[in-house]
Amino acid sequence: MKRGGPGRRTFRSPLPPQIGRPRTASESNARIANSERRARQGLRRKNSCVLESAPFFATVVHEDIETILLSEAQILQGIDRVAAEVTRAYAGREFTVMAVLKGSCVFASDLIRRVPLRLELAFVAASSYRDGTTSGRLDVNYFPADGEIAGRELLLVDDILDTGRTMQALKRELLERGARSVRTCVFLDKPARRAVDLRADHSCFEIEDKFVVGYGLDFAGAYRNLPYLGVLRQAAIERSRTAPLGRA
Ligand code: IMP
Ligand code: MG
Repeated sequence: MKRGGPGRRTFRSPLPPQIGRPRTASESNARIANSERRARQGLRRKNSCVLESAPFFATVVHEDIETILLSEAQILQGIDRVAAEVTRAYAGREFTVMAVLKGSCVFASDLIRRVPLRLELAFVAASSYRDGTTSGRLDVNYFPADGEIAGRELLLVDDILDTGRTMQALKRELLERGARSVRTCVFLDKPARRAVDLRADHSCFEIEDKFVVGYGLDFAGAYRNLPYLGVLRQAAIERSRTAPLGRA
């Protein structure tokens, strides 16, 4: 077959290139401005009405990442291991995976597809971080109906065990509402910041005390859609403080 023929596309990796030295703030800003300009041009070709109304900033989320801590392949290996643990723990029993929104949605959906047992899925919504990288008050915004809790064996799944307050409060509440048992399962464990006496029953990765984004974890509501786990550039944090992206 003729190479480079019609319909042939060049694959470009969505990941940023390996970084030899950190970019300066002005280099970062220039790259962001360039990617915004390219995205605007693309939109202009498609639909000029959208262009006029769309607020455009941080168009390309990969540009804001300084370091990739875990690639998508590494993440899936860790999830395979934990899925096998969970399968052994609940073999022969029916149980409910209770995912903590919003952060655990990506992890929970990859996890349950690797656990070949009869299980149900339910959600609880809690937020302890607002528009920043520091811990705030815990709000429990949504609990499932008691019928989904009382008498059930629950696997409480969250994105990260940081201070541990979220998981501790939710576990206590679920037991008070009549759950038969509650085990905890997290994608990440940051033991350096633990403020309560809680260890996860299952954890995919232990990380150091760094604020991370991607694979469901957010900063000011953004970056959950990154397929890997990364550390944000300082410039992106500063930019969001002056022009907030939205709710966490
Ligand atoms: P904890 O109650 O302090 O354990 O906080 C748990 C919640 O804080 C998690 O569900 C996350 O939403 C958020 N969180 C903690 N550390 C990080 C981080 O490094 N990146 C993004 N979110 C984080
Ligand atoms: Mg969060």
